[in-house]
Formats: sequence, C-alpha cells, structure tokens
Amino acid sequence: MNSNNAFAVTDFAFIGRTFDEYCQMFDLELDSIEGETILDCPSGADSFVATAYESGASITGVDMMYSQPPTELQQRCQEDYEAVAAQLAEKSDLFKWEFYGDIEGRTKLLKKAYETFISDYTEGRKQGRYLYGELPTLPFAPNSFSLVLSAHFLFLYGDRLDYEFHLATLRELIRVATEQVRIFPLVGLDTERYPRLDDLLRELTEDGHQVAVENVPFEFQQGADEMLVITV
Ligand SMILES: C[S@@+](CC[C@H](N)C(=O)[O-])C[C@H]1O[C@@H](n2cnc3c(N)ncnc32)[C@H](O)[C@@H]1O
Repeated sequence: MNSNNAFAVTDFAFIGRTFDEYCQMFDLELDSIEGETILDCPSGADSFVATAYESGASITGVDMMYSQPPTELQQRCQEDYEAVAAQLAEKSDLFKWEFYGDIEGRTKLLKKAYETFISDYTEGRKQGRYLYGELPTLPFAPNSFSLVLSAHFLFLYGDRLDYEFHLATLRELIRVATEQVRIFPLVGLDTERYPRLDDLLRELTEDGHQVAVENVPFEFQQGADEMLVITV
C-alpha cells in the first residue's frame, strides 16, 4: 500500500481505547485478568486502566505524557480525538467496520475512553496507578508485573521508531514481566506488517524467550488481527 494512504499522525496520538476494545485486541476476559498484576504501557488516554481498576484488578498505566497535569492532558485528548475523527471518513478504506459499525461508533468509543481516563487520572495519579515513564526505560524493578500489555505503539509507529528502539523496548517490557508480554497490533499506520518482525522474534528467541504470533477476535485496521505473545 502507498504510504500516502497511511493514517497520518503527528508524533504520537494521545488517544486510547476502552476496556472492551483492550479485551478484544488482547483476547482477554475479565476472569483471565483476575489475580494478575498488569502493566499497560503506553496507556495514553485509554480507559483500560480505570475500568480494570474498578473491576478489582491490580493495574498500572505508564506513558510519557503523564508528566502533564490533568488540564493539559484534557486539551491534548480533545485535539488528538478531533484529528483522528476528522481522518476517519477520508481514510475509511484502511479499516474494517464490523466491530464499530460506522464512524460514529468508532468516535463514540474514542471519546468514552478519554473521558473515562480524564475523570480517573487525578485520583489515579495520586494512587500511583498512572506513572510517567519514557520507553525504552521503565521505572520498575525486574519482575514487577505478571502481565504486560502494549498497544498501538511498537510496530504501529514503525515508520518513526527504529529497529533498535523496538528491540530495546521489547527487552525492557520483558524485564519487568514474570509471565507474558503481549503486543498489538503488528502492522504500521499504512496497515503493512512490521517488516523486521522476524528479526526481532529471532533475537528474543535467542535471549531465551518463547514467542508466538496469535490471532485475536478483533480487526479494525486492515490486517491488524494478530498480537505478539512473549512468554518470558
Ligand atoms: C496511540 S497511544 C496508545 C494508547 C493505548 N495503548 C491504546 O492502545 O489505546 C500512543 C501513546 O504512546 C505514548 N508514547 C510515545 N512515545 C513514548 C515513549 N517513548 N514512552 C512512553 N510512552 C510513549 C504517547 O504519549 C501516546 O499516549
């Protein structure tokens, strides 16, 4: 696909998905996260952290934007939400619409995610559930979480994050995990699979980890129906 037809994002979009979208993207159910200690990184303006916490999960979200106060983040959420919503009609052929139904269905969930995030952020930050961190370095001791989730960052922004950054970030996510690291999606903003995925998988296997590409019951970006599962 021609990269002119890629979804255009300046820097990194400060947007997020809802808890239900996360469960679909990572093939998780509420039952399956009970008892886990979860890291969501980068968590952006998602509502996975807020909803999982409300459901009793032990969850921490990390993002480089969490150095910012709530008012600034709220403004950034609104701007990035509008920028994404404006492109959906123009670039609708980059997506499959079964899950959301239509553009309104998609924008409604984007808004719900960021509003839930904003209403939880101040309290969550006090409780240490939202922490500033900038990959490829995390502010945690080794083996701090049983399950590490990373969505819409690695691979998606493969046009601006180089191979070495991908490898260093994967190793850092693995360092803080005791069981699994899951990454979604495996395609870029142009909907093409990350071209050096096999090289990364080979290096992680050589490090001694088990890696698997698994289908998930969710596809919005064309071809984005797989996650990477790393068993540490
Ligand atoms: C598209 S959002 C993903 C949000 C969420 N994971 C989701 O799938 O809905 C991408 C996030 O990556 C964050 N980000 C970009 N570079 C980062 C870095 N080096 N370390 C931590 N966060 C970063 C941005 O601030 C932004 O919130």
